[in-house]
Amino acid sequence: MKKARTSVPSKRTGEAEYRLPPGLKLNLPFYLFKKFFRPADPIALFEHLALTYGPIAHYKLGLANIAFLNDPELVREVLINQGSSFIKERTQRRLKILLGEGLITSEGAFHMRQRRIAAPAFHRQRIAAYGEGMAVRAAAMRDSWQPGQTFDVSAAMMELSLEIVARTLFATEVTDDVRAINREVNVIMGLYNFLVALPRAERYLHLPIPGLMQFKRSRRKLDSVVHRILEEHRCYVAAGGADRGDLLSMLVSARDEEDGAGSQEEPAARGMTDEQLRDEVLTIFLAGYETTANALAWTWYLLSQNPEAEARMFAEIVSVLGAGESSRLPTLEDLPLLRYTEQVFAESMRLYPPVWAMGRESTRPIELGEYRFPAGTYFYFSQYIIQRDPANFPDPLRFDPDRFSPEQKAARPRFAYFPFGGGGRQCIGEAFAWMEGVLILATIAQKWRLEFVPGQQVGVQPKITLRPKFPMRMTARAR
Ligand code: HEM
Repeated sequence: MKKARTSVPSKRTGEAEYRLPPGLKLNLPFYLFKKFFRPADPIALFEHLALTYGPIAHYKLGLANIAFLNDPELVREVLINQGSSFIKERTQRRLKILLGEGLITSEGAFHMRQRRIAAPAFHRQRIAAYGEGMAVRAAAMRDSWQPGQTFDVSAAMMELSLEIVARTLFATEVTDDVRAINREVNVIMGLYNFLVALPRAERYLHLPIPGLMQFKRSRRKLDSVVHRILEEHRCYVAAGGADRGDLLSMLVSARDEEDGAGSQEEPAARGMTDEQLRDEVLTIFLAGYETTANALAWTWYLLSQNPEAEARMFAEIVSVLGAGESSRLPTLEDLPLLRYTEQVFAESMRLYPPVWAMGRESTRPIELGEYRFPAGTYFYFSQYIIQRDPANFPDPLRFDPDRFSPEQKAARPRFAYFPFGGGGRQCIGEAFAWMEGVLILATIAQKWRLEFVPGQQVGVQPKITLRPKFPMRMTARAR
């Protein structure tokens, strides 16, 4: 690794002097043009910055200062120690055009209130109730496969996790409407780069620009599904339906105990408005299935390439759940025993983190080590890069679930591995995702070994999540 330059530029901005780390001398678009001669590949850029400048690098995009952090301690500074000095960076803020003021996009006191309201719905005991549904859905999918059948595992995992989110969180059947969610999300993902490149895209929505018109159509369809789900829920409650224990019921009936304390507000008014419910439902829908689906697709791929780990995982599953006709589906109680299966899932998210990078913008001047950044600096850090750093993961490209033994985990800094982020905005669905990942892996692997069809290209597509770039065809081999 090339050593970072020690001499740093020092400038005056208003009252505060700041000191920036070494980095790219050219403004980013010029640099990318010179270096890559192709549409920007953000992972290649981050890899280059990490290799050349080590823990911290600076570059400019237009007038904006950007710091790229490649050190677990610096990530901790931004997410935890100085967390209150940051908001989400601008590409995530632009997601507001789709997600409004949901948990992912809102900030400050409003975000904290929404988080307080939603938290009980994600509590460990509460999500325990969803476990059975997860294994049952996975079993229905696995039982529909035939020996020797070949299919795209990433599409299958997308369908399965969408179904799980729809049924467990919103008690909704996977109707054509819910499938439409998947379709429209794909359309919007395809437009994502265009949407984030266009500052204040929401201002131009009335103009007949093809990309924006397509976006508006997809958003309208998504909205209509969400409003239908909310309406059905209302009718169900009005008809005296019992609490189904789903997340939607909790969100609708949630009240913020801390809110309105000492005010004249009626307790009933402390819940969420229709607009907030729409934003949260759509946010949780979107956050809750694509990430898990990608994690599972990459896990099946890695298992197919690492037969020893695959055999060890299968042996564990047999020892816990039995074999052949006498085997049973995994339950929540089995999770502590399916430790190696969980390590497989963890190691897969190390190599292919579904959220592959995160960013924040500073709301005040920030000091990191010897450097001082002005307010309005963007800070980026990447799970994909940090989780492949040989300093914390020797021989980093090797798939080795033993890296997640309790001893090895305890020996690493907290932010050497952070697929679910950290601090006040850590993923609210983390426990849900671990449970879902392990239960699906165990249920499917009980019956099938998935064999990668040779000769296919494999690559990553770094959008909001790290999608496989090509379909991932696998053949189901019966145990
Ligand atoms: C393997 C699966 C998942 C991964 C890797 C993942 C990752 C993440 C990460 C990294 C963040 C933080 C983003 C940031 O701070 O900028 C986040 C936030 C969030 N996630 Fe997840 N997630 C997963 C599954 C889920 C599930 C299953 C749900 C819901 C059912 C969910 C709901 C959310 C929500 C609502 C937020 C925003 C939280 C806030 O800002 O308060 N996620 N997720």
